[in-house]
Amino acid sequence: MDYVERFEKLGFGMFVHFGLYSIIGKGEWAQHILNIPKEKYCPLINKFKVKKTWAKNLVKTAKDAGCKYITITTRHHDGFSLYDTKGLNDYDAPHSPCGRDLIKEFVDECNKAGIVPFFYHTLLDWHHESYDTDFPKYIDYLIKSVELLCTNYGKIGGIWFDGMWNKPNEDWQEDRLYSTIRKHQPEAMIINNTGLDELGKVGHPELDSVTFERGKPAFVDNSDRHRAGEMCQVVNDHWGYAKLDINYKSVGSLIMDLINCRKYNCNFLLNVGPMPNGDLRTIDRGTLTEIGKWIKFNKNFIYDVKSSDIDGENTIMLKGKDCYYAIAKAPMVGDVNVAIGGKISSVKINAKIKSATWLDDGRKINVKNGCEFDFAPFGYGISMSYRVAKLKLEK
Ligand code: GLC
Repeated sequence: MDYVERFEKLGFGMFVHFGLYSIIGKGEWAQHILNIPKEKYCPLINKFKVKKTWAKNLVKTAKDAGCKYITITTRHHDGFSLYDTKGLNDYDAPHSPCGRDLIKEFVDECNKAGIVPFFYHTLLDWHHESYDTDFPKYIDYLIKSVELLCTNYGKIGGIWFDGMWNKPNEDWQEDRLYSTIRKHQPEAMIINNTGLDELGKVGHPELDSVTFERGKPAFVDNSDRHRAGEMCQVVNDHWGYAKLDINYKSVGSLIMDLINCRKYNCNFLLNVGPMPNGDLRTIDRGTLTEIGKWIKFNKNFIYDVKSSDIDGENTIMLKGKDCYYAIAKAPMVGDVNVAIGGKISSVKINAKIKSATWLDDGRKINVKNGCEFDFAPFGYGISMSYRVAKLKLEK
C-alpha cells in the first residue's frame, strides 16, 4: 500500500487552528479583518502563555473522537510560528513567555498516542517583510521554514499548504518547495488548499490530495495518478478561536459530513480552535466526544471503506472488506423514511442480500424479497437515521 492509500484509510482527522490570534478570540483573520497594525498585533507574543498539558489533552480528545490524524497550524497567515524557527526570526513560540517549541510537544504526544501528525503551513504571510517587496527572498525564507519542519520532528504524515490563492500570479517555485519535502520526508502527503473558489482542483502534479474547503466532496480526478481528497469543515463558523461564535453544527450533521466524505473516498478534517491557553472549549470537546461515541460502534463503516458500486434507495452505501454497509440518509441530506410510532420502514438496494445485521449491536435485520431490509426499529435508544446495516450479499 502506498502512502496516499494509507492516508485515505485514516478517514477522519482533526484540524487545529492555534496561534496569537487565539488571544484576540475573533478568528485567525483578526489582524487583517480588524485592520490591526503590526505595532499592535506583534506584541501579542508577550501574552502567549500555553499550558504544559495542552498537547496531551488535545491529542486525547482527538483520539477519543476517532480521529486518526491531526493537522495543526505550525504557522498561519499572521506569520507567527508555533515551532522553533532556529533563528529565521524571533516571531515564534520559543520567544514568547510560553518559551517552548509547541510543535515538538504536539508531535511527541501524537507519537505516543499513535496519531499521525500533519503540519498546516501558511504561504500567505502578513508578517515577513519580503512577502510584498522581494518575493524570491520570501520563498527562500518559506522553504527554509518548511525544511525545519521536515527535519526536526521525525516522520510526519504530511504538509498542508494554504494561501497561494493570495498571489496566484507570483512564482511560488512549487517544484523547489515540494522537492524539499520529498527529499526529507518521501512518504509525506503534500496538500495545497485550493480555497473556496476551486474545490477539488489539482493545482500541481506533485500534490497528493485535493481539498474541498467547507465544500461538498466529490470523486477525485485520478486520471494521471492516484490522488486522495479531503474536505475540511469548521465546528462553528471560524477556524481560529472565536469566543462569541456559538453557531455550532450538530453532531448529527458532522457525522453526515464524515459519511458523505467517505462516500466519495475522501477524508474528513474537522476543525477546532483552542483557547489562548491551549484548552478546547467545553462545547468543542462535547461535540467531539459524541462523534467519538458514534464512531466507536460504527468504526468499520468509517476507516477502511471505499465508495460502493451498489445503489440504494434512501441510503448511502459503502464497501467494506467482505461486505457492504448501508446507512439511511439523515434528514439534512433529505428524504429519510422515519419509522413513526414503532413502524418499521424498509430500504431497497440493487443487489441480493444474503444476511444483514446492525453494526452497533450486532442484531439480525429482517430481509425481505432478497433486496429489501428493515430500517431501524424504534426504541433501541439509537437514532434510526444514523444506524449502519452490515450487508452480506449473494455472490
Ligand atoms: C482559508 C482561510 C484560512 C484557513 C483555511 C482552512 O484558506 O484563509 O484562514 O486556515 O481556510 O482551510
